Amino acid sequence: MPQAVVPRLDRLAFGGDYNPEQWPEEVHEEDVRLMVEAGVSMVTVGVFSWALLEPQEGRYETAWLRRVMDRLHGAGIRVDLATPSASPPPWFSAAHPESLPMTREGVRLGVGAREHYCASSPDYRRAAQALASHLAGELGDHPALALWHIGNEFGAQVGRCWCPVSERAFRVWLQARYGDLDALNRAWGTAFWSQRYGEWEEITAPRVAPMPVNPSQQLDFLRFASDEHLACFTGERDAVRAHGTGVPITTNFMATTCANLDYWRWAPEVDVVTNDHYLTAEDERPHLGLAMSADVTRGLAGGGPWLLLEHSTSAVNWQPRNVAKRPGEMRRNALAHVARGSEGAMYFQWRASRAGAEKFHSAMVPHAGTDSALWRDVVALGADLGRLAEVRGSVVQDEVAMVWDWPSRWALELEFRPTVDLGFEERAAATYEALHDLHRTVAVVPVDAELERLARYPVLVLPQAYLVPDGAAAVLAAYVEQGGHLVVPFFSGIVDATDTVPDGPYPGQLREVLGLDVEEWHPLRAGQRVALSGDDGGADGPVGDVWSERVRPRGAQVLRTFADGPDAGHPAVTRHSRGAGTAWYVATRLPVAGLRDLLAEVLDAAGLPASGLARDLEVVRRRGEDADYVFALNHSGVPAALGATGTDLLTGREHAGAVEVPAGGAVVVREACRA
Ligand code: GAL
Repeated sequence: MPQAVVPRLDRLAFGGDYNPEQWPEEVHEEDVRLMVEAGVSMVTVGVFSWALLEPQEGRYETAWLRRVMDRLHGAGIRVDLATPSASPPPWFSAAHPESLPMTREGVRLGVGAREHYCASSPDYRRAAQALASHLAGELGDHPALALWHIGNEFGAQVGRCWCPVSERAFRVWLQARYGDLDALNRAWGTAFWSQRYGEWEEITAPRVAPMPVNPSQQLDFLRFASDEHLACFTGERDAVRAHGTGVPITTNFMATTCANLDYWRWAPEVDVVTNDHYLTAEDERPHLGLAMSADVTRGLAGGGPWLLLEHSTSAVNWQPRNVAKRPGEMRRNALAHVARGSEGAMYFQWRASRAGAEKFHSAMVPHAGTDSALWRDVVALGADLGRLAEVRGSVVQDEVAMVWDWPSRWALELEFRPTVDLGFEERAAATYEALHDLHRTVAVVPVDAELERLARYPVLVLPQAYLVPDGAAAVLAAYVEQGGHLVVPFFSGIVDATDTVPDGPYPGQLREVLGLDVEEWHPLRAGQRVALSGDDGGADGPVGDVWSERVRPRGAQVLRTFADGPDAGHPAVTRHSRGAGTAWYVATRLPVAGLRDLLAEVLDAAGLPASGLARDLEVVRRRGEDADYVFALNHSGVPAALGATGTDLLTGREHAGAVEVPAGGAVVVREACRA
């Protein structure tokens, strides 16, 4: 059984970002009283407090923070202590103007917001680490401290910087990656367009140029930028660790919403994987994006527990239309994160600010105060989470796997691809939605996962894996040989890690396992659709868009053909038996409904039949040492049926087989362990 992610907590984490510096002392007293009323167990403090903690270079003032932590400790509330490095104070930026980041166009970003630093700036790193070290020295032994939180959402807004300091750091990073210029020239294919480099100093960050800059160079720059932020994190982490506080250290990821970082490289560096997630409020089914973010986070945590550090009680302030949550939605959202492996549900933020850019963001204590439905819901949720303490340490039972890969996404979305209609986010969301509607809990894995990890799942789906690094294709083939069902869409396995096309027809990396070649692509016009043959061979099958191509089977069996379009009469969906398993291929872009039908067929072949659950009943099982916990969240407006036997931890009701999950409601049934 994995260790609880925050060992110093004896319940699920419930609380939020707490900014007492925005309020007078008397409000601090009320804060703590209300936190106790709501069952708050932990709050995050210090996230943006640099200007108060170090009002002048080297003059540290932590007494106020100690008072805040003492008060919280007095009420039994734990602290997730943040280092404030996400927002350097004005004095720092004024003293070190070259630490301000620069855009690709060469524009220096200004102060007055946050995240105004270049991740490669030695001055920034030195100052951030010095403050982190000071905080750890002063407060590292505070009895309220339960978690260290380095910075905030690294790379969220300013993922990359093109300033001269970054450019020099890029060259150093390239030297470490390639060793010598010959290797770099080969990897970047610089024979093309007269780009051969003779000196390291000739290499620039990929600036604005007359035409697309070398894609291999751009891809490396994106990797470099992610690594520079990671170095900021590890620098501060090590400064804290040096004080030996023994408290786990994290930084809050944005698993599905920050495309700037390769979190697979980050995850091994944190003691606890944590995540922030905000609904896309205008989505008709916003719980799907939430579930996918939670599953990606769990994947980063290697399938084990993790912690949700931020979401919102209701509307945010930064979307075009900040739709408020509907009754019951806040509760279902929090429980969905817990269902999917989070050891709690934390919010941005505890008390709504009165000033600043985020004053219209929802909070646990809204501007309306405690005589409000929202506050009553917060108090009720605190009680619900209190009843779920025993789920800590239990492990989500994943059923199928889906690949998620940042470098592949970066490369896919560079310029001069066969069509502008390709996009990782859209394909990932569509694939995830199809699997979700089939009620299968998704394990998210990297494209180069080890065979042992993949072999746990009977089905592995690639939403769109344009880039497949050397070595990974052999693992995918071995996965199939051993009995796995691999599902691959068009335009996957096209290039290696340097964005270079391997010798031979497409999809070079995956040709063997799929048992086919692709002779030529036929991207479709905007709005154009292609029909696929139906089950009986007629033209009434699914309809694809964006893509058609000429597939030549070399061992693969044809399941459907294109009924019209540039490849009419040629294969559109194939299946290739190899060893004990099967590799499936789809040569067009299927909408969610088409993907769902295809994946239902694959799941069935893999021994995972239809669940019979209502579409918007979300069901996830967590397995503990002595019991299973079946979370069922009904996102629809009508009651839904579930089969489960045991006690509902939320109500104490006993269920013997048939459970009715109320419209908009939730149950968490403790069942005898099925293992
Ligand atoms: C997060 C951030 C918080 C707050 C929140 C608003 O991305 O970490 O500090 O800005 O968004 O939704």
